[in-house]
Amino acid sequence: MAERITVSYQKKPCYDIVLTRGFDGLSEEFSQREEWAGRKVCIVADSNVAPLYGKAVQEALAPCVAACELFEFPAGEEHKNLQTVQSLYVYLIEHHFERRDMLVALGGGVTGDMTGFAAATYLRGIDFIQIPTTLLSMVDSSIGGKTGVDFDAYKNMVGAFYMPKLVYMNLDTLQTLEARQFYSGFAEVMKHGLIRDSKYYEWLIANMYEICDRDFDTMLALVKRSCEIKKAVVEKDPTEQGERALLNFGHTIGHAIEKYSNFTMLHGECVALGCVAAAFISWKKERISMEEYYEIRDMFVPFNLPISLDDVDVDRIVELTKSDKKMSGGQIRFILLDKIGKAAIDHTVSEEEMRAALGELNFKEED
Ligand code: GLY
Repeated sequence: MAERITVSYQKKPCYDIVLTRGFDGLSEEFSQREEWAGRKVCIVADSNVAPLYGKAVQEALAPCVAACELFEFPAGEEHKNLQTVQSLYVYLIEHHFERRDMLVALGGGVTGDMTGFAAATYLRGIDFIQIPTTLLSMVDSSIGGKTGVDFDAYKNMVGAFYMPKLVYMNLDTLQTLEARQFYSGFAEVMKHGLIRDSKYYEWLIANMYEICDRDFDTMLALVKRSCEIKKAVVEKDPTEQGERALLNFGHTIGHAIEKYSNFTMLHGECVALGCVAAAFISWKKERISMEEYYEIRDMFVPFNLPISLDDVDVDRIVELTKSDKKMSGGQIRFILLDKIGKAAIDHTVSEEEMRAALGELNFKEED
């Protein structure tokens, strides 16, 4: 039996998140929406996901749509750019996609963000749905309508807020995720507990073994709770004028580490390090206690997430935080913790404080 969460936008119900097993439920979702009948759809998937799930999704959709194409692009963050969007536009034009037709983002965050942006801009906007297949995209990027691509060295620099028409999650796809990808997604889950819900944080720790085993019922409860937290935040502040920025906890330093590593480290791995650094700054600013800092830091370890760096250039990472979007009036809009389960925006974090936090994480030969 599928679980369903409805997300509102501008105070009106906008799209459902469906949590279920398998792709069969997709035909029912399509047949329930008369306005979708007779449309053409184009599934967009990367070279990892297309061979795994492309056919199953095509088969589920084929009876409900006029045509079901599959556009495949090379996997990797380095392809989340305007060149890939351009080849998708060309594909859509060549296959005569019109304004009433639809895109289906099948995959992780790169696919969802890039497909959403193409949907927002092709013919001034066509409908799209999200079928996230990674933990990270289920609990974070597929919800809330942030779409976009990287531009030069700048992550997610070009984009649009554009809502999907449906977010369909087949939780069985979590079973095929490579371990590193799975734990990377878990960093965003931990973030939800840290910024908003201390009971959820405690539940995650209490269920650590079931989570690492990817037990279905535990994962369903986890994805559902994270979706509820994300829904509550994006409904209140869809375009990040205030509260939505709290979701960026761990991301200012996290994004800088991601760029520093030249994307060899996964997003969630960098977010985990960013969360530890932000918790360190929260401690030094006397917002949380030393015990809370060490507890937060150590809780990433059982989930196979890094809490230290290996002899990195701290100054370079601090420099890279300046190319992040999370600035307001030239100042970094940093997210700190007031306690486990409560985050706040802070405009006073200095370069020196970031350097100290990164220094704490940085492991050097002579240490
Ligand atoms: N990933 C953060 C947000 O959606 O705002």
